[in-house]
Amino acid sequence: CGIVGVVGKPARDIVLNGLKNLEYRGYDSAGIYLNDLNGHEYLTKAVGRISNLEDKLTPDEQGLVGIGHTRWATHGKPTVDNAHPHVSEDGRFYLVHNGVIENYAELKEKYLSDVNFKSTTDTEVVVQLVAKIAREKDLDGFSAFKEALKLVKGSYAFLLVDDTEPSHIFIAKNKSPMMLGLGDGFNIIASDAISVLDQTKTFIDLQDGDVADVTKEEVVIENLDGEKVERKPHTLDIDPNAASKGTYEFYMLKEIDEQPAVMRRLSQTYFGADGDVRVEQSIVDAVAESDRIYILAAGTSYHAGLVGKNIIEKYADIPVEVGLASEFGYHFPKLSKKPFFIFLSQSGETADSRVVLKQVNERNLPSLTMTNVEGSTLSREATYTMLLEAGPEIAVASTKAYTAQIAVQAILAKAVGEKKGLQDAKDFDLKNQLALVAEGMQELVDGKEKIDELAKKYLANTRNAFYIGRGVDYAVALEGALKLKEVSYIETEGFAAAELKHGTIALIEDGTPVIALINDPATADLTRGNIQEVESRGANVMTFVGKDFARKDDDVILPQVDYYMSPLLTAVPAQLLAYYASKNKGLDVDKPRNLAKSVTVE
Ligand code: G6P
Repeated sequence: CGIVGVVGKPARDIVLNGLKNLEYRGYDSAGIYLNDLNGHEYLTKAVGRISNLEDKLTPDEQGLVGIGHTRWATHGKPTVDNAHPHVSEDGRFYLVHNGVIENYAELKEKYLSDVNFKSTTDTEVVVQLVAKIAREKDLDGFSAFKEALKLVKGSYAFLLVDDTEPSHIFIAKNKSPMMLGLGDGFNIIASDAISVLDQTKTFIDLQDGDVADVTKEEVVIENLDGEKVERKPHTLDIDPNAASKGTYEFYMLKEIDEQPAVMRRLSQTYFGADGDVRVEQSIVDAVAESDRIYILAAGTSYHAGLVGKNIIEKYADIPVEVGLASEFGYHFPKLSKKPFFIFLSQSGETADSRVVLKQVNERNLPSLTMTNVEGSTLSREATYTMLLEAGPEIAVASTKAYTAQIAVQAILAKAVGEKKGLQDAKDFDLKNQLALVAEGMQELVDGKEKIDELAKKYLANTRNAFYIGRGVDYAVALEGALKLKEVSYIETEGFAAAELKHGTIALIEDGTPVIALINDPATADLTRGNIQEVESRGANVMTFVGKDFARKDDDVILPQVDYYMSPLLTAVPAQLLAYYASKNKGLDVDKPRNLAKSVTVE
């Protein structure tokens, strides 16, 4: 979900624009509360996109204080009643919330049995609780809020307005991101700084347990016991244009196209002028000392980890286990003696990954977060951070962060392997490989029409599809399948090429699309055999093949790079195929149904 609040400036457009920038975090419903500080207040909510909310607002609904929310439903269906802001029964308090209140049922039963609830959300419980405490204990809004928070368990970023003193916005944060933007004569609050970069570049990152009282002139940060807390502001050095679509119809294509530039940037960041790989020495030492690496992630980042495992085992010669954070968090495997943990996360906020990191920290084990967002929670909480340098990624379906994660894992593998004196690592000319990859990616994005044609020819009317590959291609097959299903809603599975025949081949019918990936010299011929098996059962096969093994009639010939780097190229036509399959169906490519870019609930 996304949150924006502003105090001290005409709030309506700032909140709405901020919410639009945050729509990638969820877009089931949206709402805004405005107070003109002159006795008028307005609460408007709508199901669906922010544009629906805009359509509902009348011209006189304006305010000098405003809070807004765009929702990704967790508790309760996406309806107007369940949309935020939620209001207390007495009409005094207005609240927006990201996160999940774990003990909402208990709070409701224990304290609020006499209240008429309008929604089925966990959030409304909190706003009713604040109102009740304020009334019964005769407290001002901020004090009542703090009292209520002492009873609340769960994850939250809250903005609260008390209409008896509407020139204040009260904030609380626990396990959900919240940034406080400082302006001249106004202040602004957002769950992601990028959404309000046009207003300010100076931000305070609130920490778990912080509460704040924000007016247009002043920001007071405390803990729940009312003790003052110092948080230093920092300047966010992001070009707001980096987060804009420019001439592109969708962010996803822009972000696919940016990948060559990301590879070049990574090369500049992580290699010295002398061509030597440069990774913080303490990271290299800690990883080199470990006897096993555990990579934890979710979604696309997990798939990047599966590729990374191959690269790290090859060039750093350390065994790697890759885990889905959500599973690992509650079922830790038997760990090795000297484990090292790597968290892969574009956003750095994924709750499933945070659960694992928390336990890693409790056990005092070393960890590294590879993330695209400097200062994100997973980055702050891990021992070390390596940045992906991919620039803001806005489309819900991750593309450039995936390839950046693979490249950064390769950079780490090379640095660690060299430190260990491994010949394979020394011989691995990664700087040159990244240059070849960047060039290769450029060639592939320049040839995107070809992929559009494939999408039109094979994917326009299909219900399902398959990706097959072996070795690193299997890992890319999983990602290719995820990409295609999440943006085009074509049910797609990624399979180890030879495994298909052990059951799933039963689903192959006349016209079933199968995308075959071939980059592995050891198994190229075998995969060709698997292609025969599906073709003879009617499949329409598309082949993405490394140049050295390519045949004239292959559909996409990938410029040749090191086998371990080939996923960086194979991913590009897979991403493009998903993009065009979605766009050609007239779908909203950047905001597929039911998804959110950054999932801060477990
Ligand atoms: C969400 C997104 C996915 C993403 C996953 C992990 O589910 O929709 O695209 O891969 O979270 O996100 P992270 O920010 O941790 O990489």
